[in-house]
Amino acid sequence: MTITQDPSAPLIAVVGATGNQGGSVVRALADSTKSYRVRGFTRDSTKPAAQELVKLGVEVIAVSLVVENKEAVYRVFEAATYAFLVTNFWEHVDMDKEVAEGKLLIDAAKAAGASGIIWSGLPSFIKHTNGKYTHVYHFEGKSLITAYGRHSGVPFVDVQAGSYASNFRGFPFAPTKQADGSYVLGLPTKPTTSAPIVDIPRDYGKFVRYALELEVFPDGQEFAAYSENISIEKILEQWGQATGKKFKYVQISRERFKQQLEAAGLPPHIVDDEMDLTAAFDEFGWPVPPIPEALKSQVHTWADYAKKTDWTDFFAGTK
Ligand SMILES: NC(=O)c1ccc[n+]([C@@H]2O[C@H](COP(=O)([O-])OP(=O)(O)OC[C@H]3O[C@@H](n4cnc5c(N)ncnc54)[C@H](OP(=O)(O)O)[C@@H]3O)[C@@H](O)[C@H]2O)c1
Ligand SMILES: *[C@@H]1O[C@H](CO)[C@@H](O)[C@H](O)[C@H]1NC(C)=O
Repeated sequence: MTITQDPSAPLIAVVGATGNQGGSVVRALADSTKSYRVRGFTRDSTKPAAQELVKLGVEVIAVSLVVENKEAVYRVFEAATYAFLVTNFWEHVDMDKEVAEGKLLIDAAKAAGASGIIWSGLPSFIKHTNGKYTHVYHFEGKSLITAYGRHSGVPFVDVQAGSYASNFRGFPFAPTKQADGSYVLGLPTKPTTSAPIVDIPRDYGKFVRYALELEVFPDGQEFAAYSENISIEKILEQWGQATGKKFKYVQISRERFKQQLEAAGLPPHIVDDEMDLTAAFDEFGWPVPPIPEALKSQVHTWADYAKKTDWTDFFAGTK
């Protein structure tokens, strides 16, 4: 099916429609056997990603979804049947700002009379590690927004994103090229430590669509979008098999990792965030619910991702 303009079809308002998660949601809705009207938000409706949405039949609305802009934010959610919400911590690295914006989005969807909200949350590592690791701000803020949404009175579903496969293209997870043409990745985690991995543009939206299309909207439930729990050791091994390059993992000291984060110019609280996250992974893992049976055959593993990806830029050192 395609995205429709038919007023009898449910209207899904999608935050971050020009980005990884929201874009994946829009494409999954466009691929559904059901019909939807889709409204996508961006700050710049002239950018290529926004124009692609227009071609898909999305009603693209230019708006900045920030607290200073409350009235406009309320207005753009009007008449939405369901809302997909995501916040972008990395744009400003301010947990309080992320929480305030997440709450604003929930309030606006509620005021619009939405029948349900699907939110991209993450678990609290303070809770998960019994208070041992308190600085994982980019998870913590999202868990606070989830708690707010659960008490909003609007049916509320959390569809968490696993670790993006594309993270391995950039700092601090990208392996670096050695003089002999091989690639080495140094992180402070054990080689056997695993994390849930997701091919975000291809697969995230499928989980959101799944939740949306269940017979009863799964209020209160938590899903996680990923294909497998995979160790860093396996990631590098399968990357090598897919590309014919040599990859090697070295576990570096926590001090050395910290120095690298600082040398890259990360603000001190983000250095703490990454330090705590990597330590918590090693000791406590990253908790995710199992994948719904119906989605198991639809998601891309790391090996699939490594094979499907065009690595030319990466190996040329330009990306
Ligand atoms: N990397 C990972 O492994 C991982 C895993 C789980 C969760 N996450 C979380 O994923 C989130 C980012 O999601 P993503 O990857 O989909 O982001 P992304 O691809 O960087 O796109 C960000 C989207 O948010 C929109 N946006 C940002 N600020 C906005 C504002 N003030 N008003 C309106 N729209 C705004 C952008 O729209 P325009 O730019 O077009 O205006 C864009 O569509 C982060 O919070 C991160 O913590 C990441
Ligand atoms: C991934 O690991 C978690 C525990 O950390 C488990 O609950 C989940 O079922 C696992 N998922 C898969 C697909 O094996």
